[in-house]
Amino acid sequence: MNETLKTINNLRSARNDFIDKKVPAQIMNTIIEHSMKAANASNVQRYSMILVDEPKILEVITNKNTAKIAIVYCLDYNRVIETAKYMGYDYIPGTDNWYDIISGIFDVSALAQTAVIAAASLGVDTVITNSVLRQNQKEIVNQLKLPEKYCFAVMAVLFGYRDIPRIVQNNRLAAEYIVHHNQYRTLNSEEHNDIIAGYDQFYPQYIDDAHPHYLDFFFNDWCGPKDERVNSALKERMKEAGFIIL
Ligand SMILES: Cc1cc2nc3c(=O)[nH]c(=O)nc-3n(C[C@H](O)[C@H](O)[C@H](O)COP(=O)(O)O)c2cc1C
Repeated sequence: MNETLKTINNLRSARNDFIDKKVPAQIMNTIIEHSMKAANASNVQRYSMILVDEPKILEVITNKNTAKIAIVYCLDYNRVIETAKYMGYDYIPGTDNWYDIISGIFDVSALAQTAVIAAASLGVDTVITNSVLRQNQKEIVNQLKLPEKYCFAVMAVLFGYRDIPRIVQNNRLAAEYIVHHNQYRTLNSEEHNDIIAGYDQFYPQYIDDAHPHYLDFFFNDWCGPKDERVNSALKERMKEAGFIIL
């Protein structure tokens, strides 16, 4: 296995367990520069990153995680609009169509995941989090001084170091359940049982009398009713920022 594949194979998300040691600025710069090699639609680069190391802002962004530094990834058209204006064009951002928004969210995600891989190759631990979506949206805009329009904080990556050994574990389903050849196929009961048993191996700590399998915990307790307040707040923020999809 080459070094790149080893790095990818050993990826594991950190949790709220970063030690009190900040990633040096030079390493963060290397991570950022390399993450920007990620593919993006039409090379528009309709995103911005906010590097956050101010404790008060970090607290809001990360929901009190122990990480000392984070990057918030925003889908952001402001720079493109400004450049167009500077050149005398009236550029209309595609914030009112699914095609553009889906492509934009892919761009942001590729940027974040590439940062995770770059970080791991440098011995830096990370976790991607969508906690920015669960926070008070006005607070996110205020703390980060985000432009009101055409900018939306999609996710964050927290960077740091852990002092516990990284447990390399295959915690993904077998590719045969995920990859379809030419045409989509539905799984049979034997395969479903295998998936259930697979999750039991990944997460035995969730199995108890009330939850014979991890997925009993997942479907009963974890993916319970979605918080409608979060959904309405996000809808409101997106509308305010000009991302309007009916
Ligand atoms: C969009 C996205 C949001 C996530 N949000 C969180 C989060 O808020 N908190 C967290 O601890 N992990 C979060 N994760 C990490 C996943 O929980 C993690 O990738 C998954 O459980 C698999 O574990 P592994 O990355 O260690 O293999 C997120 C991952 C993604 C891609």
